Amino acid sequence: MVLLGIETSCDDTSAGVVRDGREVLSCVVASQDELHAEYGGVVPELASRRHTECIVPVVEKALKDASLRAEDIDGVGVTVGPGLPGSLLVGIAFAKALAYALEKPLLAVNHILAHVHAIFLTKKPPGFPFVALVVSGGHTSLFLVKDYLELIPLGHTRDDAAGEAFDKVAKLLGLGYPGGVAIDRLAREGNPRAVEFKRPYISKNSLEFSFSGLKTAVLNHLKGCRRNLTEAEVRDVSASFQEAVVDVLTQKILWAVDQTGVKGVVVCGGVACNSRLRQRLQEIEEQRRIRVYLPLPRYCSDNGAMVAAYAYHLLRHNRIAPMDITAVPSFEE
Ligand code: KG4
Ligand code: ZN
Repeated sequence: MVLLGIETSCDDTSAGVVRDGREVLSCVVASQDELHAEYGGVVPELASRRHTECIVPVVEKALKDASLRAEDIDGVGVTVGPGLPGSLLVGIAFAKALAYALEKPLLAVNHILAHVHAIFLTKKPPGFPFVALVVSGGHTSLFLVKDYLELIPLGHTRDDAAGEAFDKVAKLLGLGYPGGVAIDRLAREGNPRAVEFKRPYISKNSLEFSFSGLKTAVLNHLKGCRRNLTEAEVRDVSASFQEAVVDVLTQKILWAVDQTGVKGVVVCGGVACNSRLRQRLQEIEEQRRIRVYLPLPRYCSDNGAMVAAYAYHLLRHNRIAPMDITAVPSFEE
């Protein structure tokens, strides 16, 4: 079965065509980073307007790249939440209209769970069960994944997502938006021990996250300096902040592994592109008897292919959405 997946939950308009939840035939992403950069974050109203402009050409290109006509697809998957209401509604309205016109099933996809399905787009995905950490600009969540549609939540962030913390700290350091990549780059030449930021573990063995205090700690550190930082100091603060985030993410992964007894770990979402996190995950793999699986970088950030991958399993289980579905901005798993 060939599924079309549509993703408009935040600031990327994307469509992907995937066969049997595994084989990507095409994936097109129209990024809005430039549009929002001057505001230092996503402006919801601008995001939904841009989605309305991009959705038709993005879906047309995805079908063309897959050498398919719209009639050839077996179903339309669409992200219904969590996300920005105005952004979600654009994708949902389009997906409904397309499914209705083609008389094809409509599948309602949870964005966070779709991030986990990005791992099934790799050549050698893990067997079940495994632990998955979804770590992106909007989410930081751990799951025990027992089957394609059986994802048991283990813990979420209580406040900011890890990627959000990266973006906010980058803004404080004057590094532009989105800032995760800039911090990653600068941190390579910084000293991760220069500033000892307190690690927000919450409590021993807790699988919940909290990153807003870390962002405030960086702010307080900058205020305490009472002058503009030198370039070397910016690199050191970037490295020290990043190290604190990576310490917390890797420690929580290890606690989740200990508590569930799984042998495999998946790390997905935009922050999974972080080079220090990848390095530390590799070390964990070598030290502990677990395997770490990472989606290809292009499927770590928001994309339609992961939505199509998840939608395939919904269709297989006949979990077809009614035509009156709407956005679920705070979708629980
Ligand atoms: O998954 P994604 O594209 O969108 C959401 O669903 O949120 O993730 C975007 C987030 C942004 O916060 C961005 O700064 C962060 O992922 N990010 C990174 C890196 N690349 C992207 N954070 C740290 N290091 C990176 N290399
Ligand atoms: Zn996402």
